[in-house]
Amino acid sequence: MNEKQRMESKQVNSSDKKSEKDFSKYFQAVYMPPSLKDAKKRGKEEVKYHNDFNISPEFQGMGNGRKFYIRTYGCQMNEHDTEVMAGIFLALGYEPTESVDDANVILLNTCAIRENAENKVFGELGHLKSLKKERPDLLLGVCGCMSQEESVVNRILKVHPHVDMVFGTHNIHRLPNILEEAYRSKEMVIEVWSKEGDVIENLPKVRKGSIKAWVNIMYGCDKFCTYCIVPYTRGKERSRRPEEIIQEVRHLAAQGYKEITLLGQNVNAYGKDFDDITYGLGDLMDELHKIDIPRIRFTTSHPRDFDDHLIEVLAKGGNLLDHIHLPVQSGSSEVLKLMARKYDRERYLELVRKIKEAMPNASLTTDIIVGFPNETEEQFEETLSLYREVEFDSAYTFIYSPREGTPAAKMQDNIPMEVKKERLQRLNSLVNEISAKKMKEYEGKVVKVLVEGESKNNPDVLAGYTEKNKLVNFKAPKSAIGKIVNVKIVKAKTWTLDGETVEETVEVN
Ligand code: SAH
Ligand code: SF4
Ligand code: F3S
Repeated sequence: MNEKQRMESKQVNSSDKKSEKDFSKYFQAVYMPPSLKDAKKRGKEEVKYHNDFNISPEFQGMGNGRKFYIRTYGCQMNEHDTEVMAGIFLALGYEPTESVDDANVILLNTCAIRENAENKVFGELGHLKSLKKERPDLLLGVCGCMSQEESVVNRILKVHPHVDMVFGTHNIHRLPNILEEAYRSKEMVIEVWSKEGDVIENLPKVRKGSIKAWVNIMYGCDKFCTYCIVPYTRGKERSRRPEEIIQEVRHLAAQGYKEITLLGQNVNAYGKDFDDITYGLGDLMDELHKIDIPRIRFTTSHPRDFDDHLIEVLAKGGNLLDHIHLPVQSGSSEVLKLMARKYDRERYLELVRKIKEAMPNASLTTDIIVGFPNETEEQFEETLSLYREVEFDSAYTFIYSPREGTPAAKMQDNIPMEVKKERLQRLNSLVNEISAKKMKEYEGKVVKVLVEGESKNNPDVLAGYTEKNKLVNFKAPKSAIGKIVNVKIVKAKTWTLDGETVEETVEVN
């Protein structure tokens, strides 16, 4: 749904018809549950770019004397959406707070990727009930990916009626209107659009920190891996125009940011939706390469669309870092086929070979799902053997979690949970073994560390990340914070490195 469709559906969402609010009709108008049939129609609608976000005069000052608190679950995309919502709150006059206790508005920015992610949020909603009882004027909202699921919205309506607002990932720019309606209305305000073809460029943002920044390059996902909810919760793939991205990165460089992470669910599909220019991630990286900012990363890559041009550009090095997160999901071609990943074991290994040929020092990390429906012991072992062959630096590993509405959720599964858990353990010990080996190789070497601040456990120690995203702890004057300095690694631990500064903490870029 876009702005025009929203206006047309307004009669069901209008606050002056409160008594007639019928949520079944509401869903027909602005909400569609995950559906493969609808998804196939994607790509035919034109992407509209908006640059006209503003806080209308009626909402100005709405937050004066009020505080907001946002709890974020899930991936970097959600973290960045939180920065946008914080920007809108500030523009409305709200102040941020670090505690739910003195917040006037609490938002849970949720993740739907696995069942346990959702359970955490439902648990939290239960906890917040008592707070809401004590302070009925507190506004409690649920947003993010879970809000895009019909079953979640229905459960909130039934079990958590103390929630005041539910809004989806496409409705963030409507936050002022949603808040305003929630203050006026006694009923739960629900605004979830299921399809969105639009990109809104000029939303305010309050970034967390002044050293590293996220920059969206595209939204949504059209890959429809059979296990995954994201294409339904985030809508269709739509790329931001290159000039907007380049301008944002230049601006961040001018503000003194040292590291940019380009964000998208499948960044390698960047530009595929442009119909007026032929322009991909390789072209974008080539332009960003020229900007005077020390570090540029991107996430997440899909192996299918990782092309030779991108490899060629990344091999130029400089500010383009040679750490690539390349989720493989499984080492078995049969399982990959059932997952609809659109590559097989051989193609993945061939891609890894090409990357390593062009960038001999490149480090790779990955995501793996174990216990996909009917995964056999042999197929699981193929995952282990692929892991050994590639020697990933590290991996995020998950037990498959069925997501309602996705094709895999309909597959019969004869693998008991006990077997899945045991496979996860075996995989994790391999991940740890190879990580430990790779970390050990750092001992005695000098690495460049972007210093982010004091270590969480010891304020006398500073912490930062290497180009390959390894956490390093070392002693140095606080003046090193925000700089890139040379650190000699003295001891490797399983997940972190201990080091000491080399000479003075002179910036090395
Ligand atoms: N867009 C990214 C990742 C998105 S989700 C990509 O395609 O790589 C992050 C990871 O969660 C995925 O890579 C996958 O390993 C895992 N994941 C997604 N859906 C899942 C499910 N239903 N059960 C278990 N893990 C899942
Ligand atoms: Fe999900 Fe696949 Fe899209 Fe990643 S590429 S977000 S796993 S559908
Ligand atoms: Fe979760 Fe949504 Fe990200 S489902 S992983 S928060 S895109």
